[in-house]
Amino acid sequence: MKKDILTLSDLSEADVQRLLTRAAELKKRHRQGIADRPLAGKTVGLLFDKPSTRTRISFEAGTAQLGGTPIFINAKDTQISRGEPVKDVARVFSRYLDALVIRTYAQSLIEEFAKFSTIPVINALSDLYHPCQVLSDIMTVIEHKGRYKNLKIVWVGDGNNVAHSWMNAAAVLGLNLVLACPEGYFPDPAIAERALAKKCGSISMTSNPAEAVKDADVVYTDVWVSMGDKESEDKKKEFQAFQVNAELLKHASKEVIVMHCLPAHRGEEISEDVMEGPRSVVWDQAENKLHLHKAVLDILIEG
Ligand code: CP
Ligand code: NVA
Repeated sequence: MKKDILTLSDLSEADVQRLLTRAAELKKRHRQGIADRPLAGKTVGLLFDKPSTRTRISFEAGTAQLGGTPIFINAKDTQISRGEPVKDVARVFSRYLDALVIRTYAQSLIEEFAKFSTIPVINALSDLYHPCQVLSDIMTVIEHKGRYKNLKIVWVGDGNNVAHSWMNAAAVLGLNLVLACPEGYFPDPAIAERALAKKCGSISMTSNPAEAVKDADVVYTDVWVSMGDKESEDKKKEFQAFQVNAELLKHASKEVIVMHCLPAHRGEEISEDVMEGPRSVVWDQAENKLHLHKAVLDILIEG
């Protein structure tokens, strides 16, 4: 496995399977009350430039559960906010820490950190990607469906960072992925092109959510306005037909699971009844972030 996780396309299918296997093992052991301490004496930095409920706390709790020490670093409190070059900060952090988890706007900033760091750098969300989210989501898909291949996985909503990571996952794992987005909100064409060029799995796009969701095994949605996007009432109007609600789910398989990386905006991208209903697996998704993040730290730091 490479030193860092910057995008899901950095990983091979074997790397993903190794992470998923370790995460499942760690989840089982955690539930049995067995405390593994592979990170004893290790320190993990979390450099965050955007808010977080799940990713921050699951990485912090996960580090502590594995015997390590997490340090939360608000990017605004560092000299980076006063112009200190990333290449300098990366080399300094590498002398103090054993891994660095970064959430920020520009993907290029995370990549620059990785280039100048001697420690693993982990992307905890950028404007372009959210790789660890989708890795833990695949763990949830396996728990509920027993597999990730030969399923119809449908993304409904904005062609955003999480959608980009799903496209990368489709290309690495051979998934059958359909994206239903309003015109003008499809994923970044360059990212789509790179994923399609791998000729692995199938990725298709449409602006017709009902058609996309037909016989779907997995329906996934996310906020219409991501962190850093401009709030816009017009955009919300354009997305009205893309709400994941009971009506839309009539087209899906009866056994469909509904996924959302959270935070959710009930009444926008998902209806209250679907969010709280029997097809929703959102709390399992949120839990699996903890186990998957522990596997990432264990494998990247300890090898
Ligand atoms: N899903 C997710 O990344 O949530 P947070 O923004 O709360 O970390
Ligand atoms: N697309 C969302 C995901 C949040 C976890 C955002 O970037 O705000």
